[in-house]
Amino acid sequence: MKKFSVVIAGGGSTFTPGIVLMLLANQDRLPLRALKFYDNDGARQEVIAEACKVILREQAPDIDFCYTTDPQTAFSDVDFVMAHIRVGKYPMREKDEKIPLRHGVVGQETCGPGGIAYGMRSIGGVLELVDYMQTWSPDAWMLNYSNPAAIVAEATRRLRPTAKILNICDMPIGIEGRMAQILGLQDRKQMITRYYGLNHFGWWHSVEDREGNDLMPALRRYVSEHGYIPPANDAHTEASWNDTFAKAKDVQALDPDTLPNTYLKYYLYPDYVVAHANPERTRANEVMDHREKHVFSACRAITEAGHSAAGELEIDEHASYIVDLAAAIAFNTQQRMLLIVPNNGAIANFDADAMVEIPCLVGKNGPEPLTVGNIPHFQKGLMSQQVAVEKLVVDAWEQGSYLKLWQAITLSKTVPSASVAKAILDDLIDANKAYWPPLR
Ligand code: NAD
Ligand code: G6P
Ligand code: MN
Repeated sequence: MKKFSVVIAGGGSTFTPGIVLMLLANQDRLPLRALKFYDNDGARQEVIAEACKVILREQAPDIDFCYTTDPQTAFSDVDFVMAHIRVGKYPMREKDEKIPLRHGVVGQETCGPGGIAYGMRSIGGVLELVDYMQTWSPDAWMLNYSNPAAIVAEATRRLRPTAKILNICDMPIGIEGRMAQILGLQDRKQMITRYYGLNHFGWWHSVEDREGNDLMPALRRYVSEHGYIPPANDAHTEASWNDTFAKAKDVQALDPDTLPNTYLKYYLYPDYVVAHANPERTRANEVMDHREKHVFSACRAITEAGHSAAGELEIDEHASYIVDLAAAIAFNTQQRMLLIVPNNGAIANFDADAMVEIPCLVGKNGPEPLTVGNIPHFQKGLMSQQVAVEKLVVDAWEQGSYLKLWQAITLSKTVPSASVAKAILDDLIDANKAYWPPLR
């Protein structure tokens, strides 16, 4: 079996150790000959990488491992780039969340003005990775899950049209895992699902078992009562995520025929979200206090002791969708997966040049989107508004346009007026001086 070379861009990410453990557990499906980490913050990456070096030495001494801040070293001789960078890191996520909240508006990593601000930082970072890949490994594929995926995907579609990049999100995978639990199925792969929308902005309109039996009636009934809280709720889920999974009940009420993505709560219940937010302590604070501290201290302990038992690092089971995607390309499996791709007529009554999240068959030449057909007015209206926001952000980044970004924030369903949008924008510009292109 062929062996592959992978670079993880954003080697210093809190998700890197879980993904490495997941890659090691999937060596039968995607054998590796080399693994590299790349990050532009060498000190942050070193902590994660030194611990992973210990793990790799124990579990897979044959995989050639290195980490670097030098793009040429990182991007030469690779088959896949797995990208999960966060431009500005958690301190900027905290600002994305807190600045809108100061104005009474949803403060969220990928939705509303916070997601727009993050998009303005991410576009340049991700395009740089694409350019490194095209320069040093032109045959490689980038599997990108750097957020905000919708805006990043629109930017790469427009500005790097020939790039071999696949944008994917784990939220539908997480929700489908919950659906399987609700239905008492072994895992989400026992279901055939149909879904359409934008990233963090979509709906399931069909869920069947492998024999083609309709599972929607049972799911609709359950979600309308409990949201996506499965019967045996797992104590692992943090309280803030639990609230989001429970709130899906109210989101689903807007269109009882379908099952919603959890992120729609930010657009359909922004007043509720703001009323339940603490402007002094947002999700970024939770992540810095818990996941970041936990992962980094576990890594330090492993490195110091020289063996992996010294620190508790958890395998990121559900990230195995990344292996599904890489294997689909490597071995032409034609697996059906949800990807963020140009619409090109798949949703018949929606813009051809919108980046939509829809099922695709994936093979060695990339994704082949499946036809969705016409979508209802409710979804179409919401999606048209949101896709315009995403396109205006890329316009603003490309043209350095204050006006386009003001329009984008004003158009977001989370924002009540142009004056509030302007006040938020001016604060965001101040906070993002080191990252955004200058706006005129
Ligand atoms: P993190 O801050 O722990 O890690 C991100 C790393 O990226 C940091 O080490 C940082 O130094 C590095 N980085 C920043 N800018 C860079 C650049 N220009 N070049 C190279 N490296 C750079 O963040 P995290 O919480 O682990 O999340 C990582 C990313 O994954 C985020 O974008 C997050 O939104 C995304 N994510 C996406 C999904 C999805 O469904 N698509 C799921 C989970 C996380
Ligand atoms: C889900 C989404 C990601 C997002 C993440 C945030 O997995 O699909 O796009 O980045 O949640 O999780 P966090 O724990 O960092 O708040
Ligand atoms: Mn996502």
